[in-house]
Amino acid sequence: MPDSSQVIPACADCFGDDIDAQSFRLMSMIGAGVGLLDHPERLDDVLRKLGARHHQYGVREAHYPIVGEVLLETLDEVLGHDFTADAKAAWAGFYGVVAASMTAGAVDGVPHVDAARTDHG
Ligand code: HEM
Repeated sequence: MPDSSQVIPACADCFGDDIDAQSFRLMSMIGAGVGLLDHPERLDDVLRKLGARHHQYGVREAHYPIVGEVLLETLDEVLGHDFTADAKAAWAGFYGVVAASMTAGAVDGVPHVDAARTDHG
């Protein structure tokens, strides 16, 4: 299982060099994703735009599964026995949906793509 010491080198140019701040941000990100569940009608659009911004931060598709594994590992460490197989499957599914929308947005939402688009596509 990767941990945050592997996530950060994987995306070394994305984050600054303050490990505590990075770890805090990682968990804030997950909280932001969960918070979006309160707005299902906006979820896909918000996630695609979030994915486009991540592309600008230097985040690439290959980074998503690494962060997803760290998330599951962290929940397992914190929740212990309460992190049941069902809960783990639900979190993995949730993360997969979020990551899929974000990576789609990284393609669709490349900066200025809307402005550059014409009627001819
Ligand atoms: C479930 C997946 C993820 C969610 C919900 C998420 C969410 C967020 C949010 C809400 C921000 C704040 C800035 C903004 O809104 O644009 C952010 C920033 C950032 N995220 Fe993520 N993120 C996710 C995955 C990742 C992954 C896979 C990486 C790569 C390691 C990553 C790297 C970053 C970086 C580098 C920043 C900018 C930090 C800074 O301000 O310096 N994120 N993320």
